[in-house]
Amino acid sequence: MKRFVLCITGASGSVYGVRLLEELSRIGRVDVVVSSAGATVLKEEMGRTLKDVKEEFPKADFYGERDLTAPIASGSVLTNYEAVLVAPCSMSTLASVATGVNINLIHRVCEVALKERVKLVLLVREMPYSKVHLENMLKATEAGAIVVPASPGFYHRPRTLEDLVNFVVGKVLDLLGLEHGLYNRWKGGGK
Ligand SMILES: Cc1cc2nc3c(=O)[nH]c(=O)nc-3n(C[C@H](O)[C@H](O)[C@H](O)COP(=O)(O)O)c2cc1C
Repeated sequence: MKRFVLCITGASGSVYGVRLLEELSRIGRVDVVVSSAGATVLKEEMGRTLKDVKEEFPKADFYGERDLTAPIASGSVLTNYEAVLVAPCSMSTLASVATGVNINLIHRVCEVALKERVKLVLLVREMPYSKVHLENMLKATEAGAIVVPASPGFYHRPRTLEDLVNFVVGKVLDLLGLEHGLYNRWKGGGK
């Protein structure tokens, strides 16, 4: 069974995290860490509490952001995982990944993913980006992370908000080599 870690931080776009949790739960087992800012934004944007999400996904394993004793904080465990995803990823968590400064379990899991060469996908969101943000994205990329901007395309002719979210989530699943039918791939002009 494929295993994933999904971290939801306090950037706008909690819907991406929840949608990814739905998709990944269908494919395998998911360990979830939601930062306290992530929980705040989740409530603000989706009207859901962390408790609601835990009840909605009873098969997922949730860890507190302060729980540095969680199994996924260890390289010997994380090497058995397909990927660590941070979706959405705040500029603050990005900075932690770029600099290696650990304050919480999310930072630690990202650090372990980098050192163990486990795929690390950061679905970053901010607008506009400062020089610091851009430099941190470069540093994170050079360290081995995949930085994915939460920027949906429009060539698949989205009609709903769900179409836009599915496009971004589909691109993340593409990076993990997971099959999905979340968006229509480009078939060439006029098709
Ligand atoms: C409604 C709301 C939206 C936010 N949107 C963003 C955002 O898009 N990008 C970002 O980097 N921070 C955003 N923030 C600020 C982060 O939540 C804040 O920097 C927090 O410290 C991030 O902590 P974390 O990385 O541990 O989740 C937002 C905060 C709130 C309350």
